[in-house]
Amino acid sequence: MFFQQFATGGCQSYLVGCAETCAAVLIDPEISLIDRYIAIAAREGLHIQYLIDTHTHADHFSATQQLARRLQVPVAMHRASPSPFVDLRLDDGEMLAVGKLRLQVLHTPGHTSDSMCILVEDRVFTGDTLLIGATGRTDLPGGDPEALYNSLFNHVLQLDPDLKVYPAHEYKDRSHSTIGQELAENPRLQARDCTTFVEMMNNLNLTMPTHVTEALRTNMSGGKTVAQMLTEAAAAVPFMSLAELKTRSENGANELIILDVRERDAYEQGHIPGARLLPRGQLELRVNQDLPDPTQRILLYCEFGRISTLATATLREMGFQRAVALDGGMKAWHEADYPIKSGREP
Ligand SMILES: [Fe+2]
Repeated sequence: MFFQQFATGGCQSYLVGCAETCAAVLIDPEISLIDRYIAIAAREGLHIQYLIDTHTHADHFSATQQLARRLQVPVAMHRASPSPFVDLRLDDGEMLAVGKLRLQVLHTPGHTSDSMCILVEDRVFTGDTLLIGATGRTDLPGGDPEALYNSLFNHVLQLDPDLKVYPAHEYKDRSHSTIGQELAENPRLQARDCTTFVEMMNNLNLTMPTHVTEALRTNMSGGKTVAQMLTEAAAAVPFMSLAELKTRSENGANELIILDVRERDAYEQGHIPGARLLPRGQLELRVNQDLPDPTQRILLYCEFGRISTLATATLREMGFQRAVALDGGMKAWHEADYPIKSGREP
C-alpha cells in the first residue's frame, strides 16, 4: 500500500494508494496543498480515483471540490453531508474499491452528523471522531456528544486494538497512534459512562476555530473562499508597482486613467494626485458614462490592493482589456511617502 501523510497547521490529509494497480484516494485534502497532492500522485505514478472528506470541516478549507474539477474524479462523503457537490454518498457498512484496496465506511456521528471513519488494512482514518489523546469537539454545527459517545465506545473503540489511528487533526507532530493506545491513554476516553462523557464534552469551553464561518460556508455550499476569489482575480489581471505609477503620474503621462475605487470620504482625505473617484460599489453602474473608451489604459487602486484587484478583473471581464491593478494600495502609497492630494478634485 502506498501511504503519505500531509500536515498543514494541524490538519492532516492522506494519500493512500494500491501498490499493485496504482489506484489511489485522497482523504481530507486541504486547499493549500492542491498542487502538492497532484504532483506527488504523479511522481508516484498514482491515479487518484476518489476524493474523500471524512466530514464537513469547520476548521479547514476542503480541497475536494476543486480537485474534483481538476482531476475529473468524484467526491465521496457520508450521505448526511449537506454539500451539494458530493458525487458519491456513502453509508455505514459500505466499501470503496480502490484497486485491490477496500476502504470500509463506518458512520460515526458526534463531531458532526456526517462524520465517518475509513478502515483500510491495518489502519483507520478517524476524521475528527477520534484524535490522538483527544476527540473531536461537539459544540460546532451538527455536533452531538451523546452520538459521539456511542460512535466511540460502541464502534470505533471496539475495533482491533492494534489498528493504527490516523486522525484529521494532530497538533503535536505525532503521526498516528493505535486504538489500544487511545483506550489506555486518551484522557477523554477515561470517562466510560455516557453521562460523564457528555458532561465533560459540554464543559470543554473551547475557543472557536479561526475562519469557522467561512470554512462552513464554503465546505457546505461549494462556494469560494475570499482568498480563492482574490487569487483568481489576481491571476486574471496585470499589476503596476507603486514606484512605476509615481513616475508615470509625475511625468504627467495622462494616457493613464487612475481610478480610486474607495468611498468618497477616504478619497477626500487623501488620494493619488490625478486620480478620479469611482467607488467599487458603483463601478458597473457608472462604467458606461465614466469610461466611454474601452481601449483606454486604466489603473485601479483601493486601500490595500485587494478590492482594486477584484474591480480590475471585473473591468477586464467587461471589455476593458487595458485595466491594471496597483500592486499595493493607498496604505502602502502613504507609507512610501509618495505625494497625496486631499479634497474633491483629482
Ligand atoms: Fe472537524
